[in-house]
Amino acid sequence: MLNQDIISIDQFDRETLEGIFEVSLFLEKEIKGRGSLDLLKGKVMASLFFEPSTRTRFSFESAMEKLGGNLVSATGVNFSSMAKGETLEDTIKTIERYADVIVIRHPEMGSARIAADSSNIPVLNAGDGPGEHPTQALLDFYTIKKEMGKVEGLNIAMIGDLKHGRTIHSLLKLLSHYENINYYLVSPEELKIPSEYLKGIKSYKEIKTLVEVLPDADVLYMTRIQKERFASLKEYEKLKDCFVLNKKMLESAKKDMIIMHPLPRVSEIAVDVDEDPRAKYFGQVENGLYVRMALLALVLGKLKLKEKVVI
Ligand code: NCD
Repeated sequence: MLNQDIISIDQFDRETLEGIFEVSLFLEKEIKGRGSLDLLKGKVMASLFFEPSTRTRFSFESAMEKLGGNLVSATGVNFSSMAKGETLEDTIKTIERYADVIVIRHPEMGSARIAADSSNIPVLNAGDGPGEHPTQALLDFYTIKKEMGKVEGLNIAMIGDLKHGRTIHSLLKLLSHYENINYYLVSPEELKIPSEYLKGIKSYKEIKTLVEVLPDADVLYMTRIQKERFASLKEYEKLKDCFVLNKKMLESAKKDMIIMHPLPRVSEIAVDVDEDPRAKYFGQVENGLYVRMALLALVLGKLKLKEKVVI
């Protein structure tokens, strides 16, 4: 994967997805054993976040630090000359002179592709508006496979803002490489999944209530209603609390199911769920670190897919 951009989940075949899984697993063990590595010593990651982020930015930055690399980092449009009217293309052409890899989050769909086309160093999409969030899908896949041992044969329920939720968009595309998954897509009519993300998805039901899916779900993937993507605040207010999971409701769920959420949560998971052993969302956060380490090491050519890795 040397010098590859990571813009959309579309660019990965099944073999590559599994290769990334293996490298992530390897790095998780290494980091847990040794604390840090010096695989990316001398390399610099530029992290450009034009939209708010906690997990994605911190995990990329921590991944880089724990692999011995360095950061040039800034957040918000005001940090850069974009506030003076500089184009995204010119900003990227400048930053590539200082860094070896760029991680970018931007409010416009397609912006990561524009950045990648302007750059000679790898660009990793950390979320392009309501478009995609490929590195999140990779860590979600890692979490499901690690927790459940597989993805095929599972009942996967996705709940919330399926229209604007980029983590859902990328995860559905990723899972379309796998057979025999039953999807339960739970959203209000206004926030239904756009049909383009159902390509390659064979078995799915669109459902209106959360309680209906609880007894069957092996994976319950909750999402936030994406306030910032609504044209009208009134419309958001109407839908914001449409699905709320609490401890009591979990009595009807399977004993070995898992609850995931890309976070941040607003009201959709009550805090009393956190103590349930099936709640995996904070473990999911940690997995982001290992998967992003793997991606950085792969695109910077310090590890290779499927190669027996010796550091
Ligand atoms: C998600 C995002 O930014 O799309 N968060 C994340 O990266 N973990 C989900 C969200 O904002 O709801």
